[in-house]
Amino acid sequence: MDPTRRDVMALVGGLAGAQVVPGLAWAGAPGHSLTAAPAEVQLAPGDYPKTRVWAYGGQVPGPVLRQQQGEMFEARLVNGLEQETTVHWHGLRLPNAMDGVPGMTQAAVRPGESFDYRFALRDAGTFWYHPHANSLEQISRGLAGVLVVDEAEPPEVDAEEILVLDDWRLTEDAQLHPEFGNRHDMSHAGRLGNYITVNGVGEMRRSYPRGTRLRLRVVNAATARVFRLVFQGMKAWTVALDAMPVERPERVEQLELGPAQRADLIVDITAETGEEAVIGSVERDGTYATVAVSVDGAEQAVREAPQALPPNDLPVLVLKDARQVPLVMQGGAMRGLPEQVMWKGSKMEVWALYEAGQFWAFNGQAGMDGAPLIEAALGETVRVPMENRTAFSHSMHLHGQHFREVLPGGGLGPWRDTLVIHPDESREIAFVAENPGDWMFHCHMAAHQMSGMMNWIRVG
Ligand code: C2O
Ligand code: CU
Repeated sequence: MDPTRRDVMALVGGLAGAQVVPGLAWAGAPGHSLTAAPAEVQLAPGDYPKTRVWAYGGQVPGPVLRQQQGEMFEARLVNGLEQETTVHWHGLRLPNAMDGVPGMTQAAVRPGESFDYRFALRDAGTFWYHPHANSLEQISRGLAGVLVVDEAEPPEVDAEEILVLDDWRLTEDAQLHPEFGNRHDMSHAGRLGNYITVNGVGEMRRSYPRGTRLRLRVVNAATARVFRLVFQGMKAWTVALDAMPVERPERVEQLELGPAQRADLIVDITAETGEEAVIGSVERDGTYATVAVSVDGAEQAVREAPQALPPNDLPVLVLKDARQVPLVMQGGAMRGLPEQVMWKGSKMEVWALYEAGQFWAFNGQAGMDGAPLIEAALGETVRVPMENRTAFSHSMHLHGQHFREVLPGGGLGPWRDTLVIHPDESREIAFVAENPGDWMFHCHMAAHQMSGMMNWIRVG
């Protein structure tokens, strides 16, 4: 036997063994370590038992990963779950192989195994990370965290708060309802929870003096709920959406944030000393406080409206001569699918599709197929008019590149990576296919994603 070869094999075997020990450091270990594993957290108020979740680093939401724009990002995912997983870095313009889509950009990471992610942080902004395997169950069980990329010159504020909005479907003993993806959720609005949290607690409490200027990084990590936030005793401006700075900060009275969307806000506390400033979540049966600030301490002078954040280096979008690829959203309860729909390469009768747990389609096709929905040349500009013929809202997300909405007057909306489209709405997006590879294009309401609203595009 060749001794050199045996030595090499022994070495490889040793490393593979070491990889199952979470947090073990050796030469070349990357910057962040992210272990996905079962954990117990106090999610419901103190008199309820702890909730068994799946979490990154034992906490819900996962640890905030934070670096400077332009730096190299390195993270090792260690899979401590009993099923395959990956990490998708939502909203980052990164190399395709780092996008975390199992079976498309990488092999799924098996239980006990690990995967190293490494990419340059091109854009500053508020991003988040979550699994892209068995997404409905894995995200709903608690796997989600925030990735902040700091700009070289951040805006002047007194403090920053990261607010991860989420909702949970809890049983009476505060455990996660064990059914993920039942037919009702899939064919209606998704897995809506019965308990709303910010950063893993029912109501977040803070204390700031009147006049305090805050930067809020708000992330909707829920798999179905569209949040509508209102601000009481505060004056709020939007400065970035889905990580990308808006051209001009805009006053916001009510902020709509669909699943996976983010907003950076500058907020001035205007309530009187001794009063409360509140961020409320508008729900069907009332408005609930999610963040309560008791206004206390030495008052600060009122400031001018905030400046725009430094822009990220985004492509120039020219609509003239751009190709149009229309997308029609169909299916779901109340409206239903057309009689025949393509699924996995063959034409299916609608009852057979429902039987297979497929309730939605894009352009008459449920789920992904061999051919992409859009094939774009590198650098090509593509317009996608989307028509929502369903009775439900959808949160459409494109991987790998940001897009802008083409507004009815022909103008362009802010750069985003996720757009909420309500029932019977028609909304058009346009993007420059600037990032080569195969990229997912899907509804971020995870129950819809798994039951038909999932497709992909190919660039280059
Ligand atoms: Cu936030 Cu395809 O994902
Ligand atoms: Cu949807």
